[in-house]
Amino acid sequence: MAKMKAVRMGAFGGPDVLRLEELPIPDPGEAEILAKVQAASVNPIDYKIRAGKVPFITAQNLPYALGWDISGIVAACGPGSGALKEGDAIYAMIGQGGYAEYAIVKTSQGARKPASIDYVGAAAVPLAGLTAWQGLFRYGQLKAGQHVLIHGGAGGVGHFAIQFAKAKGAHVITTAASGDLDFVRSLGADEAIDYQKQRFDAVVHGVDLVYDLIGGETQERSFAVLKKGGMLVSTVAEPDQEKARKFGVRGVRYAAEANAAELDAIARLIDAGKVKPKVSKVFPLAEAARAQTFLAEQHPQGKIVLSVAG
Ligand SMILES: NC(=O)c1ccc[n+]([C@@H]2O[C@H](COP(=O)([O-])OP(=O)(O)OC[C@H]3O[C@@H](n4cnc5c(N)ncnc54)[C@H](OP(=O)(O)O)[C@@H]3O)[C@@H](O)[C@H]2O)c1
Repeated sequence: MAKMKAVRMGAFGGPDVLRLEELPIPDPGEAEILAKVQAASVNPIDYKIRAGKVPFITAQNLPYALGWDISGIVAACGPGSGALKEGDAIYAMIGQGGYAEYAIVKTSQGARKPASIDYVGAAAVPLAGLTAWQGLFRYGQLKAGQHVLIHGGAGGVGHFAIQFAKAKGAHVITTAASGDLDFVRSLGADEAIDYQKQRFDAVVHGVDLVYDLIGGETQERSFAVLKKGGMLVSTVAEPDQEKARKFGVRGVRYAAEANAAELDAIARLIDAGKVKPKVSKVFPLAEAARAQTFLAEQHPQGKIVLSVAG
């Protein structure tokens, strides 16, 4: 049986629980394709799962294959796998198994990779890009001309959110660390607030949408900057519904999901030059543990990617 290299964890814990193993190359089933992975991205959920902090991944899921999103080439198609065919360049949000030389992609999870960027750039997009897209447009209902405050604009999700909101025609205010202000401005942010030096709630008022990638007291203080009828959308913590009622706003936490049509829409924006993924550092697959530590400790701008094809 043909084998591939893949990173799995056999226990919850620190970076040392990640192991590079030899595993059988999986076969695609109904409505699935096998992708020869070219690159995979590293997301905060990866080190949260590794540490045992994500409730839906338990000891019963071990050994667990990490990796939520990939770019790659279709190597084989299962029955009913639709329009994608062998040799197509794709990108996908797959949920698990991305840190590997081959990965199974459900046809509902993948789309053609943006033609104008390489595999490393494309791997940076699916999870963070879909999260930003769904937060702003599906849950936040952001429209042209509206004002949005994005907390954490320099990170993986935030740097897409700024660019998507600008492409939509919104006025974008974002919070970031001192060293990231020039970066978020370069992405198109109209106003950049240094959260380490200034309280955002002292200077922001009457926005239509707060997009919260931080939680905690950042979220607590966000209710007051919304206009009546405004919306607080969070990826990290359920907004206090009582507080929301008191301020006359709505609050929601959501979990991003794979969506092929939205990946197509994002690819069109990238190929039109309106959105550009930022990859701060690339690690080889064998150094997945080091890549996770780098993301967790250094908070790089944009994304961290594993190069799988070399
Ligand atoms: N619910 C979902 O489906 C979903 C999907 C994707 C992500 N998430 C979660 O959403 C969060 C963001 O994800 P990500 O991939 O963007 O993470 P990330 O790449 O680590 O970015 C977070 C950014 O926030 C900055 N930051 C930290 N404290 C801040 C503060 N008080 N105000 C403003 N910025 C601050 C960080 O840099 P500095 O510390 O250097 O300032 C970093 O640039 C994570 O907790 C992730 O697990 C949830």
